[in-house]
Amino acid sequence: MCGIVGYIGDRQATEICLAGLKRLEYRGYDSAGIAIVRDGELEVMKVVGKLAGLAEALEENPLEGTLGIGHTRWATHGKPSKVNSHPHTSMDGRIALVHNGIIENYAELRDQLESEGFEFVSQTDTEVIVHLVDKYYEGDLAAAFRRAVKDLHGAFALGIVSADHPDQMIAARRFSPLVLGIGEGENFIVSDMGAVREWTDQVYVIDDDEMAVITRDSIELTDLEGNPIEREPYTIPWPADAAQKGGHKHFMHKEIHEQPRAMRECLLGRLGAPEKSINLEGLNLTEDEIRGLRKVVFTACGTAYHAGLVGRFLMEKLARIPAECDLAAELRARDPVVLDNTLAIIVSQSGETADTLVALREFKEKGAKVISVVNVVDSSIARESDGVVYIQAGPEIGVASTKAYTLQILTISLIAAHFADVRGAASEHELIELRRAMLGLPEQAQILLDREEDVKRVAARFFESPNALYLGRGVNLPSAMEGALKLKEISYIHAEGYSAGEMKHGPIALVEPSLFTVAIAIKGDVYDKMIGNIQEIKARSGPVIGVAFDGDTEIPRQADEVLWVPESPEMITPITVAIPLQILAYHIADMLDREIDQPRNLAKTVTVE
Ligand code: M6R
Repeated sequence: MCGIVGYIGDRQATEICLAGLKRLEYRGYDSAGIAIVRDGELEVMKVVGKLAGLAEALEENPLEGTLGIGHTRWATHGKPSKVNSHPHTSMDGRIALVHNGIIENYAELRDQLESEGFEFVSQTDTEVIVHLVDKYYEGDLAAAFRRAVKDLHGAFALGIVSADHPDQMIAARRFSPLVLGIGEGENFIVSDMGAVREWTDQVYVIDDDEMAVITRDSIELTDLEGNPIEREPYTIPWPADAAQKGGHKHFMHKEIHEQPRAMRECLLGRLGAPEKSINLEGLNLTEDEIRGLRKVVFTACGTAYHAGLVGRFLMEKLARIPAECDLAAELRARDPVVLDNTLAIIVSQSGETADTLVALREFKEKGAKVISVVNVVDSSIARESDGVVYIQAGPEIGVASTKAYTLQILTISLIAAHFADVRGAASEHELIELRRAMLGLPEQAQILLDREEDVKRVAARFFESPNALYLGRGVNLPSAMEGALKLKEISYIHAEGYSAGEMKHGPIALVEPSLFTVAIAIKGDVYDKMIGNIQEIKARSGPVIGVAFDGDTEIPRQADEVLWVPESPEMITPITVAIPLQILAYHIADMLDREIDQPRNLAKTVTVE
């Protein structure tokens, strides 16, 4: 998705914008550009393709100046091209603007502006904004910008500079994230905190329909009527080097390896000992409300949806509350019936996924209480929820979600165990055993990481296969779906995640020697059935990688390879099972020499519906 970095200070704006945009590269983009104000002039440079191309172009033709805005564009309206990339400029070339989001009424605004003589050069929705500002401009950039923003419907995070205002940069937002970095004698606009952390840990998080006039020494926050807003700065909680690879070949590899530490941090302060109850600050639900719940509905996209599917299972099995899990993008079409005392649990790593945010608002409109399970602190989803339980995974840069997934499940497990406790739905003994197992998860995760070479050897055996099938049942059906998603998104191998019970209703037709099957067959309620499924595949000459508990003697007899996981209560095995499947996908993709951290066509945070 698009990225924004704006700078005003004493340093060269191109260097800051390029470095900041580099930090946002993981979000995915197809073109990049920058506008610099210097000596009463505005200069713009744009390229199609990667930031390295922009850096090269800037080396050949340096743009010098200490006020500038940069952008990486992920095409929505109009193909990736120089002319469609940002910044967009007014007809006289004196105002430059960058935009994240989508302007829904751009067609009618464009017709109106064209009839008034404004000439458009791009096919984007963004260009209307810069012409609107120009139309209203009478010497006061902030006033013109404020007026223009009021005409817009849709989502936007905006940054604007003008050749006539060398000491000013202006920003505004509605539905698209925007943060202002607070420096000393310098200030920043960024679409993601990660882009600014290198220079400051102090930021203002901008709310919907707020704007900011930014100089080198001041940031003036107002609403769209110009009324001043007082806001305390927010301190970014992670260190400046958190978003670096730290010796790993890819961010994804680093993030897989961060799981034991992240799990410890997620548990810290929430679960101290097996005998003690769980403490979830931020949940914002009274015990009476928990006891009164009639239904829990999880909603999310992609990997977070798979975590929600595990959540559905845990809520029913452990807390005995009827539960559902919806794909956020499908929710509105279904016009869901929301009963009294329904709790919606929204799951999102970024907290900014547009489909998920829309689903959250739908639930709120229909009267449900909404809590979210989110990684990015103070993100839109976190802020719009009635309660939020942060997963505390730290920045996740790799497009393929890894540590956020296991931490989402861990956090949801804590919530479900807490609900089970409050509602008296599980015995004390059962809860103690579960909490003990949760406390042991960081250690189990480390054991799994220490087995990386074994998984790599399995990857070497199968990396040239064109197709893969991942099978699971019960609480590990989502594990199969997530394992397949991980493989397909980073290796481009076609992979299906399927219920093993459904296999004979269709997918079994695919089985042949070039399709490998990953069968999650850990001991528990569905173990015997999984063995039956493995035999069905073997009988049709399909190679099988079993996922089994340490010490299992049956699975090695049935499967061609085994990925071992330490034993734990079945309900929380999706957390441990995920780790070897992440490692398998990672090494297969690496052996195929794929762009693991930024797979083709994908963006880390999908901020358009
Ligand atoms: O930030 P979110 O958790 O809301 O993102 C949801 C999905 O876009 C995300 O999980 C996506 O499926 C990842 N590429 C999966 O690895």
